[in-house]
Amino acid sequence: MIRTLFLAFVLSFTAVANAQVQVNAGPYVPSPNSVVSDMLSLAAVGPADFVIDLGSGDGRIVLTAAKVYGARGFGVEIKDELVKLSNEAAQKQGVAERVKFIKQDLFKTDISQASVLTMYLLPDTVNMLSDKLQKELKPGTRIISHDYPLSGWLPEKYEQFDLADKVQISGVTTTIIYLYVVPAQVAGRWSATLPASVAKGAATLEIKQQLQKVSGNLTLGVREVPLQEMKLVGDRISFSMPGERGARPHAFTGQVKGGAIEGLVESAGVKTPWSAKLAPKS
Ligand SMILES: C[S@@+](CC[C@H](N)C(=O)[O-])C[C@H]1O[C@@H](n2cnc3c(N)ncnc32)[C@H](O)[C@@H]1O
Repeated sequence: MIRTLFLAFVLSFTAVANAQVQVNAGPYVPSPNSVVSDMLSLAAVGPADFVIDLGSGDGRIVLTAAKVYGARGFGVEIKDELVKLSNEAAQKQGVAERVKFIKQDLFKTDISQASVLTMYLLPDTVNMLSDKLQKELKPGTRIISHDYPLSGWLPEKYEQFDLADKVQISGVTTTIIYLYVVPAQVAGRWSATLPASVAKGAATLEIKQQLQKVSGNLTLGVREVPLQEMKLVGDRISFSMPGERGARPHAFTGQVKGGAIEGLVESAGVKTPWSAKLAPKS
């Protein structure tokens, strides 16, 4: 008897632990059509893009991305009737081959396929997604958030305007669209190979990073040189290194490919390749 009760308790506990705890990320409030166009053009969506809308409502963002911009993609939505409506609209609009809508919790959706990710969700939800966006999205993926920013992230661009349609949604006319670009992971110590025109001998590039905010220095032998204007947009990094004795600075650009950076450094008008490899963590 006791054994049976214990077994029942264990089974019910497991069932509760496995139950889908679903966070409501916001009520169904569609983005006005003009804002949908603004969101997609701020992200510069094109035929090569795969657009994912988190909480896709009636599907208008992904449908417009397919119909007007030739993109592919999917939307996830918790409300059955909206998923059905969106898939029917995709059929009617002749884009069902390229887009689909799935009944799924957005927090449990694999978003790694996105080249553009859109959302119009409650402010807390947007921030709850921050780690997921960093972990799952490829560097260079554009994120568009309607009205609510991702705290700690630096927008690449944002547009603010007044729209009468918004009064019935949010009580004010103000509308803001944020564009973020997912940064590559560059923090750490890199062993750099530089052309002789920049430095001879071993060079170590040290980068500090907090999302898109980066700073760093180059150690050349015993000389430590603070780098200037370091910028990271997706997988593209750039910075400048002051020239010696009043010479013009060396302008570095590079592309991050996992544990390697490859690029060009421009010194006195001449461009030469440089590269760096991420040193294993000690
Ligand atoms: C503000 S509406 C945005 C609709 C659409 N993205 C747009 O901009 O027109 C938010 C949508 O997210 C859906 N939603 C809320 N929580 C969700 C969750 N956990 N998973 C999937 N969808 C969710 C809601 O049902 C609602 O349709």
